[in-house]
Amino acid sequence: MSNQSGTGRMTRRGALSVITVGVGTAVAGAIAVPVAGYVASPAAEEETFRPASVGPISRFTAERGFEPTAAPFVEDPAQPLTSSQLAYVHHTGGTSPSWLDRDAMFVVFSNRCTHVGCPAQATGVGFSCPCHGSQFDQRGDRIAGPAVRPLDRFQWEIRDGELWITQRWSVEIDGDRVAYFPVKAPGQPLAGQVPAADALYPAVTYNLG
Ligand code: FES
Repeated sequence: MSNQSGTGRMTRRGALSVITVGVGTAVAGAIAVPVAGYVASPAAEEETFRPASVGPISRFTAERGFEPTAAPFVEDPAQPLTSSQLAYVHHTGGTSPSWLDRDAMFVVFSNRCTHVGCPAQATGVGFSCPCHGSQFDQRGDRIAGPAVRPLDRFQWEIRDGELWITQRWSVEIDGDRVAYFPVKAPGQPLAGQVPAADALYPAVTYNLG
């Protein structure tokens, strides 16, 4: 993991100041989220994201090329009909079980389009939203359409051979770096938020085949 190297946009200065206090716990899967970020975010309900299993990791490690596996999950077991959601799990070919490592095994995308929330779909070359035509590349970065930011991502961890998603983050992608922000609602840009962590994107993302 190389959270403290490289240069970036103006926001990077803010990222580094947060990383100084947050990266140790980030490795352990418990990032210290800046309180100000949530105060600024109207998506306050995301603060209480409930960890959910998306199944055994063997479901996802057979991927070749870029064919993320659709992974339904229920965010609130008490309300399964209204809290059903879908993540896309991309097996990078990496070996690290730590989600922020450059060699992380998985990148887990939210399928919630960052325009107004329609379900984006994996296309083999990225992601596409059927509602208003937003297109995202294989990193989830917006390349066309009205979406205001990349697809959100899930923090993940492996528990007893199962893949769990444990938090949802909004992201900013700058070259091969990804900065993670307290999640925003669809339609909201990241302007003004302070990154909670950043990492190099896994270098092996496109090397399976
Ligand atoms: S909701 Fe996806 S493009 Fe509008």
